[in-house]
Amino acid sequence: MNAAATPRIAPRRHLFKRLGRVLLAPDAFDFWASRLNSTWSLDRPLARIVARTPESSDTCTLLLQPNRHWRGFRAGQHLNISAEIDGTRVTRSYSLSDAPRADGRIAITVKAIPGGRLSQHLCHVAKPGDVLTLGPAFGEMTLPERAEGAWLFLAAGSGITPMMAMIRAQAVQGMPMPIALVYWARTRSELCFVEELRALAARQANFRVDVVLTRDADAADCRHGRIDASLLSAFAPDLHQRRVFACGPDGFVAAARALAAERAVAFHAEAFTPPPQIDIEGGSVQLTLAASNRVLTVPRGESLLTALEAAGLKPASGCRMGICNTCACGKRAGSTRHLHTGDVEHEPVSALRLCVNSARSDLVLDL
Ligand code: FES
Repeated sequence: MNAAATPRIAPRRHLFKRLGRVLLAPDAFDFWASRLNSTWSLDRPLARIVARTPESSDTCTLLLQPNRHWRGFRAGQHLNISAEIDGTRVTRSYSLSDAPRADGRIAITVKAIPGGRLSQHLCHVAKPGDVLTLGPAFGEMTLPERAEGAWLFLAAGSGITPMMAMIRAQAVQGMPMPIALVYWARTRSELCFVEELRALAARQANFRVDVVLTRDADAADCRHGRIDASLLSAFAPDLHQRRVFACGPDGFVAAARALAAERAVAFHAEAFTPPPQIDIEGGSVQLTLAASNRVLTVPRGESLLTALEAAGLKPASGCRMGICNTCACGKRAGSTRHLHTGDVEHEPVSALRLCVNSARSDLVLDL
């Protein structure tokens, strides 16, 4: 190489190198790529809304087309969804309501919670073409790898959503296992998927559905009442031969567990209730955030996630119910109380779920 030429070429090389570094920075790449295609990204799972369909008086289903970074799911799992609303990123967890599809599209069914920013946005504002950010699928309540025996699905309210994905996954396979579904809702207008479920029951001898309402005694095509021993024996006289899956609010799952866990072949459950804001303990404690070198004073009985947000911090979060693990962080010292179970933990832990734990003493967290 001619040494005299080097000084003229080097600045240009530097320029291209710097330009390349800037363009390949994930945020910069995503910014420019999204100008060409709204779901192109270097490494982020994104999905475009393809369609929005009402399911009931307060629930809708969104059909989404994910990009190539989405890693898939098993029927029964959930995922975190994020959207920009008025300049703020809001994340919540939703259940996937369809079985894995050949075209790669996924569906979530969302109940519009009064005051719920993301659920209201998804049900009433978001439109086809809008792009959402996806988290990885999570959740343990999936169907066994080896299908055997008979199954009983007990669903209440939004608990029908992951059950629907599992039922559709079985329907795709010709319903190889006997499944009995008992589905509770408060009123007829809140029911989702009922026509599809009844049509499936009409053509599949292996599938049965019973719909039960708790507050709408006028609906002639449904049963009425809360979960109890007599209803359960009427719907599943062969309970001792069935594997039970229960999903719904905390109280419902607790009742199902008390009635069925001992008698069934196996019992799997997932509860969808956020923890109470405050537990019985009063006063305040000192919260040391070791990684950011901050010390805060927080109420003793409040969820740590809520307390941190009230102090102006934005820890990562998703379901806010102790399911998705998004908010988990290390606890180096101090005692915490689980807001669902009341269990007290004194030892250091590597993954403390901030949304369902409160401080019992001064704490040191890896935040
Ligand atoms: S936000 Fe999902 S476990 Fe805490």
